[in-house]
Amino acid sequence: MRVLLGITGGIAAYKATGLVRALRELGHDVTVLPTENALRFIGKPTLEALSGKSIDIDLFHDVASVKHVELGQQADLILVAPATASFIGRLAGGLADDLLMNAILASKAEVVVAPAMHTEMWQNPATQSNVALLKQRGIRVMEPATGRLTGADTGPGRLPEVEDIVKFVFAAGALSGKSIIVTAGGTREPIDAVRFIGNSSSGRMGVEIAREAAAQGASVRLVGANLEVPAPAGVELIAVSSVDELEQAMDQEADAIVMAAAVSDFRVANPHRGKMSRSQGVNLELVPTKDLIANYMARHPGVFGVAFALADEAADLEEIARQKLWDKGVQLVVGNTVKALGSSKSSVLLVNDETSEPVTGSKDAIAKLIVDAIANEIVEGA
Ligand SMILES: Cc1cc2nc3c(=O)[nH]c(=O)nc-3n(C[C@H](O)[C@H](O)[C@H](O)COP(=O)(O)O)c2cc1C
Repeated sequence: MRVLLGITGGIAAYKATGLVRALRELGHDVTVLPTENALRFIGKPTLEALSGKSIDIDLFHDVASVKHVELGQQADLILVAPATASFIGRLAGGLADDLLMNAILASKAEVVVAPAMHTEMWQNPATQSNVALLKQRGIRVMEPATGRLTGADTGPGRLPEVEDIVKFVFAAGALSGKSIIVTAGGTREPIDAVRFIGNSSSGRMGVEIAREAAAQGASVRLVGANLEVPAPAGVELIAVSSVDELEQAMDQEADAIVMAAAVSDFRVANPHRGKMSRSQGVNLELVPTKDLIANYMARHPGVFGVAFALADEAADLEEIARQKLWDKGVQLVVGNTVKALGSSKSSVLLVNDETSEPVTGSKDAIAKLIVDAIANEIVEGA
């Protein structure tokens, strides 16, 4: 989504840096547009570096490109955070006196406003009646948080935490009100105190799926087993390592579960206490681990289940994926080959009980297709 992020001149302007980062981590294209006063609180180079785009806030500079119309029309969503009392008043009055105000008035995109100001300013009847007017016009205004303000005093008026703003902004997404569990990464089963049976899963695919589901408004629990990539903002991360820990963390009701984690098929029957020395040879007795997704689906009927199937050769993929559909009791299987592990590009086969669709692309593009397929099934009228 193309997000135009307006930043206005309040003390919380510095917190917009976290917002730029979180929105970009969720895969959005972010254009930052601070007001002149916002740049008294936060430096332009910081915002340019974080957004990856240069910033020009002068309405009358480069007039030939009619920047305000371009900015307004290119945005799918306009978020203003923090929004000052002054900005809220100007928006209520329709005053197009700077580039941000002009871009907003020239846009048909949804506008979301996150106010931040001193409690008395927030509770002032002028501000409250401006906020009421914005809401009447369909602009979504977030309630400020209560807490420590600029000085020693506390009260309502604080800019909410970045995570809460992100949740509020995307609450109206296709998966709004839905809960999704995503497992990602590779488990580790101890051999001794320092060694383990692991695998080369980076967790990238599961993380991309969690990111996309959160971007579509779902409440996401990401159960991450030894992730090599950072978890996206706006999801609940439960870090685990072994198969048992993964099983416990995923055992919750949800609307859908995506089992993207690579779970060890074996564990060592009796892991060695302490570190084994090389002075003698060792024979490890391996025992099979539990089938986590099959058990989960049996315990939680009604949850839409997505499993992954890994084949050595692309030729066997459909057969293996279709078999897994029945064996695990899931509704969708994403079949991929060993080659896909750890890379950012992938070719997968999406298999349900009726169709099988080959898809090639970046992991984030494939993640979007998987999340769209889930939304199709669990959201009425999607
Ligand atoms: C130190 C300082 C902190 C301020 N903090 C806020 C604030 O948190 N919220 C607010 O509405 N105004 C705040 N103001 C007042 C705004 O900066 C002022 O209304 C300004 O005109 C807003 O410009 P803008 O909305 O165009 O960015 C603050 C002013 C100063 C000097």
